[in-house]
Amino acid sequence: MDQSEHSDVPTLIGVLGGTITTEDTNRVETTESSPTLFGNASAPLRTLEIGDSDVVFMARHGLPHTIAPHEINYRANLWTFYEASASAIIGMYTVGAIADNFIIGDIVIPNQIIDYTWGREGSFNSVLGLNHFDLSEPFDPVVRNQLISSALESGYSIHTSGTYGCTQGPRLETAAEIERLRRDGCDLVGMTAMPEVALARELNIPFGGLCLVVNAAAGRGDGPIQHHGISLAIERNSPNLLDIVGRAAHSLKEILR
Ligand code: HPA
Repeated sequence: MDQSEHSDVPTLIGVLGGTITTEDTNRVETTESSPTLFGNASAPLRTLEIGDSDVVFMARHGLPHTIAPHEINYRANLWTFYEASASAIIGMYTVGAIADNFIIGDIVIPNQIIDYTWGREGSFNSVLGLNHFDLSEPFDPVVRNQLISSALESGYSIHTSGTYGCTQGPRLETAAEIERLRRDGCDLVGMTAMPEVALARELNIPFGGLCLVVNAAAGRGDGPIQHHGISLAIERNSPNLLDIVGRAAHSLKEILR
């Protein structure tokens, strides 16, 4: 399971993307996808040119975007990156803001997660054996620090920490559910970071998260959550997120070589 087993292959940085648009990036190559030991991944890996770096990208909701958060085959997705010998993975997430100091358009590099999901296949134990691995710090410090410094280098003002509450979806939450998440200490809410963060750790693939706040979470804004507001936030901020991903991938290739 040690990544050094793969040290003779070029350093490859994986990106798992959700609704952040990658349409403006150059596609270099699409890899033929075959079913994994755990079934089919959401989409084939595509090599994309982001800024001055190539990354290997997977659309976690499929192409076109049809796979709901609770229906994603997280194990197949992560296993695909493992088989491709990814040296690190960056997960991009759109999230709702719970904490008062997070507003729409904010970029957050999360440092913690609380998992509220259920029924998702969340371990490779059937193939790798039972392993009660440590997840005290769910995000890899090297990838996290690189995302932070790449964002700061480009002049973005970011939040360098935050607790991501992962809900089941696909519906949005009730105001009372969000109030509970707030009491639990969640700053952000999304639907897809778990179990992918834990699965990456089980495979020893360093994993960092990059979040974009696209709405105020239920009960914390001025009324119902509007989809056009979410789309607008994504459209406006996707280039900035991709800029950070490209810069971080470029540096991580050097660091993890
Ligand atoms: N809740 C859950 N997931 C989300 C939200 C939200 O408010 N916004 C974007 N992803």
